[in-house]
Amino acid sequence: MKHPLRLLAPTLGSAVRRPGPQKVIRFVAILGLLLVPVQPFLGQIPDAPAPAHRASQSTAAAGSGVSSRDGYVGDEACQGCHQEKFETYLRSAHHLASRLPSRTSINGKFTPGSNILRTSNPYLYFVMTATKEGYFQSAVAKFPPFETISRKEPFDLVIGSGRKGQTYLYWKGDALFELPVTYWTETDRWINSPGYPDGLPNFDKPIISRCLECHTTYIGSLPPPLNRFDRSSMVLGITCEKCHGPGRKHVVRNRSKIPLRPGEVGDIVNPASLSRDRQMDVCALCHAGPGTPKAPAFSFVAGGVLGQFLSLPDNAPDTPADVHAHQVQQLSSSRCFRSSSMTCTTCHDVHKPQRDVASFSEHCLTCHSIESCGRYSTMGSKILRDCVNCHMPLKQSNQIFLDTDDRQVKPQVRNHRIAIYGQNELP
Ligand code: HEC
Ligand code: HEC
Ligand code: HEC
Ligand code: HEC
Ligand code: HEC
Ligand code: HEC
Ligand code: HEC
Repeated sequence: MKHPLRLLAPTLGSAVRRPGPQKVIRFVAILGLLLVPVQPFLGQIPDAPAPAHRASQSTAAAGSGVSSRDGYVGDEACQGCHQEKFETYLRSAHHLASRLPSRTSINGKFTPGSNILRTSNPYLYFVMTATKEGYFQSAVAKFPPFETISRKEPFDLVIGSGRKGQTYLYWKGDALFELPVTYWTETDRWINSPGYPDGLPNFDKPIISRCLECHTTYIGSLPPPLNRFDRSSMVLGITCEKCHGPGRKHVVRNRSKIPLRPGEVGDIVNPASLSRDRQMDVCALCHAGPGTPKAPAFSFVAGGVLGQFLSLPDNAPDTPADVHAHQVQQLSSSRCFRSSSMTCTTCHDVHKPQRDVASFSEHCLTCHSIESCGRYSTMGSKILRDCVNCHMPLKQSNQIFLDTDDRQVKPQVRNHRIAIYGQNELP
């Protein structure tokens, strides 16, 4: 079972430092770089906000959620009538899942001293800079007393609200690539991007459509290679219409104040009115691992049968997790799920940020009484706001990312298999 970040990086494990022959390769790689015409490295480049033109140039549609696709109208069209949902949604992980670069969207620091990622290669480091032209990652080759920028690419897209981290992408014409440096929230530092070996000035990991299918609302593909896209069609963030389907008819009818007749089926998908399987499919498009596509990316629409578009492993609760968990498979393997009609929205309101662990106890108590817990007799009401910590403990991933100074970073994900865990399984 491959994890999303591994799709294009069969050697993800190589982010771990390997001594020995690698050093020679690095040395040769760096020598090669010095033969390329180089620009002088000007030391610390002062911080400056990116001008608006850079943001608007990337795509007219981005951020605004407007798309030329048939029937789609974009988030703003929903605002006037669904104000309350719209406002909390602006702070949700889905809305913030992908953005254009800006001082607020990039969580990593550009201040001198904090804007550097040293690597295990003494001749190479990366520097992150904010200039009038925009935000950049540069590989710097270092042969004291000389320092030269061997390669410099812009932050063009920001992937991740920053709950665990952010990965950045750049365009080369209409081809999309991952930048070599990622931001890690837990340590508040820059680290090597997954899939990139430590210590090489590599910028060449292509981004394919399945990655964007989970992290954006839409982008049209161009003929191969697989990382070529129609930039102008891009809709960033996971918008209302990703889960509710195209909204034009619904907007037009409601703007003309034509009410639904009694018994008439609505003209927009409300997942709550779908069968349980179809409801789960809306989330499983992105929360059940990458799977194997059976149809072009972005062809699934909420309300449809996901199995016709994607084959997903039905049993992955024990796969080693990276930042990409398999909440659908984990939850489906729980007794709670199998013995009730629970769905993801039993606990989650996707229109709001979902980060207050203690508050989730309330949801458990809609089906269980506090007395039903074996611990109640000894611990009493102390367990009241703690159901999740014992029954959905954080799960440490086996995936290792290499921080600077050789520190290992392992993401922790919320285990969605609700169960009774032994003492040694708890954090
Ligand atoms: C002009 C006002 C208006 C706009 C714009 C509007 N809605 Fe609605 N929406 C309503 C009203 C009124 C209802 C309740 C009755 C109905 O479905 O018409 C509703 C109901 C809904 C429902 C529940 C439908 C059901 O069958 O239970 C969803 C989901 C929804 N809207 C999503 C959206 C989305 C997404 C957008 C933006 C693409 C949007 N709405 C734009 C007025 C609007
Ligand atoms: C198009 C892909 C996609 C769909 C569809 C989708 N999600 Fe997500 N979801 C994501 C991504 C990507 C993130 C992580 C965003 C981030 O933090 O950058 C996320 C994050 C979340 C979070 C974490 C929220 C937080 O505050 O950190 C929850 C909970 C969640 N999704 C639940 C759901 C549920 C429930 C559904 C179905 C109703 C659903 N998602 C549908 C892609 C999707
Ligand atoms: C199957 C859908 C899917 C694919 C494919 C996928 N992701 Fe994710 N990704 C998610 C979801 C869902 C999350 C939210 C975390 C979770 O599920 O625990 C996430 C989390 C992340 C995060 C952390 C976000 C945060 O705010 O903490 C980053 C960064 C990320 N993905 C980057 C990528 C990149 C880059 C690719 C492609 C090379 C990719 N992902 C492929 C679904 C996907
Ligand atoms: C990640 C998927 C997702 C996104 C994004 C999303 N919704 Fe929903 N929405 C749902 C689900 C699932 C339900 C049914 C369960 C519930 O009510 O939470 C729902 C229910 C609704 C309803 C009907 C229920 C009610 O409380 O009135 C409206 C209206 C609605 N959404 C509007 C919006 C609007 C407007 C946006 C964008 C600002 C949006 N949604 C974004 C998944 C989503
Ligand atoms: C929609 C209803 C529902 C919700 C919400 C719910 N459960 Fe359950 N849960 C059940 C049912 C039904 C069972 C099975 C009881 C049985 O078979 O006797 C169960 C079983 C369990 C078990 C026994 C598991 C095992 O493997 O033996 C535990 C522990 C549990 N739930 C804890 C929780 C916790 C903690 C939460 C909140 C995070 C929660 N449940 C939310 C319905 C629910
Ligand atoms: C029984 C309650 C419950 C149900 C049902 C549930 N979740 Fe969660 N979910 C939680 C709790 C509790 C958290 C932890 C919140 C936090 O850490 O802030 C969480 C966190 C998440 C996160 C953030 C993951 C991370 O590791 O940071 C995602 C994504 C998510 N849920 C998706 C889903 C999806 C998709 C479904 C349906 C398959 C689902 N959840 C069903 C309780 C639930
Ligand atoms: C300190 C850890 C802890 C907390 C907090 C906790 N539980 Fe439990 N729970 C357990 C353990 C351990 C068991 C297994 C029974 C035992 O050995 O006492 C259990 C058993 C259960 C069962 C299964 C009972 C059965 O016999 O099938 C349910 C249901 C349950 N807990 C629900 C809850 C709910 C709801 C909450 C929050 C109000 C909660 N638990 C909080 C540790 C905890």
